[in-house]
Amino acid sequence: MDNTDKTKKIKIAVIGCGNIANNAHLPALSAMPDVEILYAVDLIEERARAAKERYGLGRWQTDYRAALDDGDVNAVFVLTPNYSHYTITMDALKAGKHVFCEKPITNNYALSREMAAEAEKRNLILNIGVCNRYHKSVELIKDFVEQGRLGELYHIYCSFRSFRSIPGLGGAFTSKEKSGGGVLIDWGIHFLDLILYITGVKVRTVSANTYNKLGRDISAYVYKDMWAGPPVPGGVCDVDDMVSGFVRTSGASISFNGAWAQNIDQNEMFVDFMGDKGGIRLMYGKGFTFYTAQDGVLQSVTPDYHIPNMYQREDLRFIEALRQGLKTRSHISAVLESARLLDAIYESAEKEAEIRLN
Ligand SMILES: NC(=O)c1ccc[n+]([C@@H]2O[C@H](COP(=O)([O-])OP(=O)(O)OC[C@H]3O[C@@H](n4cnc5c(N)ncnc54)[C@H](O)[C@@H]3O)[C@@H](O)[C@H]2O)c1
Repeated sequence: MDNTDKTKKIKIAVIGCGNIANNAHLPALSAMPDVEILYAVDLIEERARAAKERYGLGRWQTDYRAALDDGDVNAVFVLTPNYSHYTITMDALKAGKHVFCEKPITNNYALSREMAAEAEKRNLILNIGVCNRYHKSVELIKDFVEQGRLGELYHIYCSFRSFRSIPGLGGAFTSKEKSGGGVLIDWGIHFLDLILYITGVKVRTVSANTYNKLGRDISAYVYKDMWAGPPVPGGVCDVDDMVSGFVRTSGASISFNGAWAQNIDQNEMFVDFMGDKGGIRLMYGKGFTFYTAQDGVLQSVTPDYHIPNMYQREDLRFIEALRQGLKTRSHISAVLESARLLDAIYESAEKEAEIRLN
């Protein structure tokens, strides 16, 4: 089909009608005049039916292959748990569909590269859900860095730490086999990806440690609320509930601490960009403050601006990418470095050694 013809709607199948589908992509896509969602698919029938009803969609299905077999479908959104990203995306590409796949690409770098190669071979667009690349604050900070307002950017530190926030303890989120990891692959990817996007650096060495301390005894874990919960008795928790690391790159070095749970009641979600002329603290998902010294005095500015919905923006760009055959900032080829970094962090922790990347 000729996707450039704007009078023809892009026909979509949404696969996975859970949290991110209902909170981000279904509202965004269903509001676009040149998009039609033909299928709501979920293994859980009530979720597929509910999405079809709520957004007035064409059909619901429990088997995504029905949508892939439909020649009218141009593109699919893969909004399922991490362990299924690879299989569903590869099946969709082989069926000739363009794909938007939520983050992380998949559970590891090797499979991520296979996905990229398949999309390239078939000349199809494969974008990844790196929503922060469409956050207004991230765009502004990228401009500040590129304009040299920070001077030499020499170090970046990020913290993604919470007091008690292990999701669905004992379920897919805390299974290495199903999710590829814990707090690093779930939260850390957002922080590290936005850093790599802003700076454009290549990773050189990684030294890191991961910890599985507070969630490993599922019945002993004390908490108030559990997102993606409740705990699954008899389930498994073999992933990182805390991670810490240091990364050398072709530019600024990066250090980070992350915790789904810790015995410190402080939630910290920020990224600090340290330059020799200025520094920036980004409050994750919010605004930022720029610090500098000028005319012999210390100054700080907290810019004020409207923050548009980043999910709407990334979905709009995906549709534009299909229409124009563009590789945008969320094309898989632009996101692979983040997957490579995650692999190196886990490898360093496992081998208790610094990992050097070529
Ligand atoms: N970009 C972001 O800010 C962001 C936020 C949350 C989640 N995510 C990512 O989105 C993905 C989904 O997360 P979620 O929180 O929505 O999970 P969720 O569990 O709420 O929803 C996933 C849905 O997929 C369905 N599903 C599983 N396998 C399926 C299959 N083979 N076919 C059809 N449906 C299937 C499940 O039944 C479930 O309803 C994850 O990879 C997560 O990392 C991204």
